[in-house]
Parts: sequence; C-alpha cells; structure tokens
Amino acid sequence: MGAKIKKIGVLTSGGDAPGMNAAIRAVVRSCNYYNIECIGIYRGYQGLIEGDFVKLDARAVSNIISRGGTILKTVRSKEFMTVEGRKKAYENLKMAEIDALVLIGGDGTFTGGMVFNKEFNFPCIGVPGTIDNDIFGTNYTIGYDTALNTIVEAIDKIRDTASSHNRLFFVEVMGRDAGFIALNSGVGAGAEEILIPEENMGLDRLLESLKRSKRSGKSSSIVVVAEGDKIGKNVFELANYVEENLPQYEVRVSVLGHMQRGGSPTCFDRVLASRLGVKAVELLLDGKTNVMVGLINNEVQTTELDLAIKSHHEINWELLRVSDIMSI
Ligand code: F6P
Repeated sequence: MGAKIKKIGVLTSGGDAPGMNAAIRAVVRSCNYYNIECIGIYRGYQGLIEGDFVKLDARAVSNIISRGGTILKTVRSKEFMTVEGRKKAYENLKMAEIDALVLIGGDGTFTGGMVFNKEFNFPCIGVPGTIDNDIFGTNYTIGYDTALNTIVEAIDKIRDTASSHNRLFFVEVMGRDAGFIALNSGVGAGAEEILIPEENMGLDRLLESLKRSKRSGKSSSIVVVAEGDKIGKNVFELANYVEENLPQYEVRVSVLGHMQRGGSPTCFDRVLASRLGVKAVELLLDGKTNVMVGLINNEVQTTELDLAIKSHHEINWELLRVSDIMSI
C-alpha cells in the first residue's frame, strides 16, 4: 500500500442518488480500517472551494446505510468549472493536508475530477452514483436499482386507477438523455409501450400500437416515457395528440419527478455502494488515480475516467425486444 496517503477526502456531487450514503459509509469505514483519516466535504466541489469540511470517523456514519440522499449534501458547482475555483479547492486540500479524493457522482463529477487531476496532479477515484445508469464502465450505478423499484411501485398504483377508468396513462420517468430507467421500469411494470431516446418509435407507430392494444381487448394502457425521449412531443402534448387521433382513448399523464431520487436504498444498491467504496479507498492506497470503480459481471473493475466520461453505455436491445413481445 502506498505510504504517502494519510488523509482521504470524500464528496458527493451531481444529482443525489439512494445509496450515496452507503458509499460514504464504506469510504469512511475503509479509511478507518486502514488507519487513514477521512474528511467529508459538504456540497460537492462547492464545499471544496469553500473549505466546508468535516472529520468523519467510523461512528459518524452509523445508521446511514439505509438512508436515501447524501449526508454530505450535493451541489452542481459552476465555480469549480473555473480555474480560479479549482485553485481555491486545491489550496484548501493542501491546507487540510488531504492527500486524495473519492468522488461519488455521475459523469459531470468525473469530468471535474479529471480536469482537477490534470491541473494539480491530485489523486482522484470516481464512484458512479446516479439513478440514470448512464455511466460507461459499470453495469449498474448506485441508486439505479432503488429508482427502478420506486418507479415500478408507482406505476403499479397508476395501473389500479387506469384499469378502473379504462384509461391510457403516459408516465414520464427520469434518466436525463438515457432510456435505461424507462426501459427497465417499463418492462418491470408491464407497460404497453416504452418510449426511449435511443430508439425513436415515431408517432405513427405509437398510434398503431395503441390501436392494436385496443383491438386485442386491452381496456387500459400504460406508456412509460423517458424524459429525454425524442418523439418530438412532451407527455402532455402526446396525451392531446392521442386523444385527438384515437377518440376511443381517455388519456391522463403522470410525471413521477424527484420521488425517483428518494427512498431507502435497496439491498442491491447498499451492497454495490459498499463494494465500490471499499475498492476506491484501496486503489488510492495502492497509488492509483484517475479511474472509476464499477461492477462488471459482478466483479469490481476499474475504468480510466476519461474513457468512462467519453464512452457510451449501450442500451440493452434484447430487453427492448422483450418489451415489444410482452406488449402483444
Ligand atoms: O441525473 C439524475 C437526474 O435525476 C436526471 O435523471 C434528471 O434529469 C436530473 O437529475 C434532474 O436534475 P435536478 O435534480 O437538478 O432537477
């Protein structure tokens, strides 16, 4: 293990995700295990610039594994995008004698870490924490599994009222520009159609599919729409369009919004976060930097940060085929 690392900082950045606290806990406990001091940095890179630090020992992270959100808070820092901001951050780290950073967040977080490392040669390891699951280099990001389960539970409830009123519901889910959340939650909730940015279904095919559902005797339907979908109409416009073109449908809309980011993390996310947090600390102690830890085929592996940032996490086309077959 590298001798020079004596104090590790940890921060969360970008959109919060359930399981981030489990990752923080894993980093802190690993530091304690290896007799390394751990410093929590509040509010992501903005807290780094402002020197908003707190010493974290093993007890400081008791009972947080089951809590959603992040005890270290998170901010999307514009100031860290400036050289002056990053310089202030570096000076604060030196003053606090912090030797390395664990960065829990998404691709924006990793981009900041990579630039920071290039400018100041400061060791950084990324831990993928975002509900979007859009990070190359890991099969799962922390928070994704919890978000899927939250969404499926919500859609099950929507289906109760949809089937009571023989209605069609458009349900918008998060995911930014990616369709992982929509595709997997749609299949899991038995949606009749799933609209994702990776495959533009087009309005005609959507109408055709809805007509086919009606002909096959379906009295109600659920269409899951990724917020980044590119069909060209938002969910409210889609509802109007369908009502105008298919008068046999009574349509409603439900935008799930930020509830998808909350809730107690699932066991899967807690275990994922624990494995990745431990590995991040051990890599730093081994003198590694500029990589992201991820789970690939149930093995914790590393990916160069610049590769993780610029590469693309491919949608599961076989799952899209499954969803087509299921919606018969
Ligand atoms: O990246 C996570 C995410 O929840 C996206 O799915 C969503 O588009 C975005 O964050 C919302 O950002 P904010 O919380 O800043 O509104």
